[in-house]
Amino acid sequence: MINLTGKTAVVTGGARGIGKGIAEKLATLGARVAIADLLKEEAEAEADAIKKSGGFALAVQTDITDLKSVTAMVETVKSQSGPVDILVNNAGWDRMKPFLSTTPEFWNRVIDINFKGVLNTVYAVAPGMVAQNSGRIINIASDAARVGSMGESVYSGAKGAVVSFSKTLARELARNQITVNVVCPGPTPTPLLEDMKAEDGFAAKVLNGMDRIIPLKRLGTPDDIAHAVAFFASEQAGFITGQVLSVSGGLTMC
Ligand SMILES: NC(=O)c1ccc[n+]([C@@H]2O[C@H](COP(=O)([O-])OP(=O)(O)OC[C@H]3O[C@@H](n4cnc5c(N)ncnc54)[C@H](O)[C@@H]3O)[C@@H](O)[C@H]2O)c1
Repeated sequence: MINLTGKTAVVTGGARGIGKGIAEKLATLGARVAIADLLKEEAEAEADAIKKSGGFALAVQTDITDLKSVTAMVETVKSQSGPVDILVNNAGWDRMKPFLSTTPEFWNRVIDINFKGVLNTVYAVAPGMVAQNSGRIINIASDAARVGSMGESVYSGAKGAVVSFSKTLARELARNQITVNVVCPGPTPTPLLEDMKAEDGFAAKVLNGMDRIIPLKRLGTPDDIAHAVAFFASEQAGFITGQVLSVSGGLTMC
């Protein structure tokens, strides 16, 4: 049985979608959860919902692309909850379009949020984990990183960078008993997926009917992803590091 009582967890992008599911799961398992998200009101509403269910949560408005904002968030979490034991890098963003229809501005945004955001949070959080000689880092990538995804070339590259970064970080931090693992969701209905479909016929074409080609014949849920994150965050996963786990109904098997 997973028990995270007494642990402080930071979940980036925890205000909605998959991150919200992760924040709720970790809180249910006893963790003190900090929701670090750009969306202030949504993050506060989610923290209130966790508190009403008997958990501990705080919302900290954060832009993961800005190291100063991330450093300030970590200081707030430390002062209001304690040192960070679990870091879940969940915040991400994309729009679906063929590579030749993208622009350098778009590349920068995708890379800043999906890759550099992870660098910023790890840079701010990991020194504390090294000092306490323990920690769990769980990075949310995507099956796009493992097998590619039509219309998501730059995003696939950024998530691939997250996977490679995580493996190297896992090697560097192992001596400090810090594990680093990656969870790759498959298509999961969230505001991100709905926005992509609403904005672009190309995205709707690629995503509609996806449930039919998934071996387990349904899309994912935030709860599906949250179970995997909770496992990697647990004491029971203490001998697992540098691993990549797809939670996608068998869509990819690699
Ligand atoms: N939904 C899917 O099908 C799917 C599939 C594979 C991977 N993923 C990954 O799962 C993660 C969660 O995706 P989701 O579908 O729940 O997305 P979502 O857009 O529904 O939620 C993402 C959250 O991240 C926050 N965020 C975005 N940019 C931020 C920034 N700069 N600083 C702080 N917070 C920021 C948003 O405000 C939002 O609350 C992402 O990393 C995404 O790439 C999602």
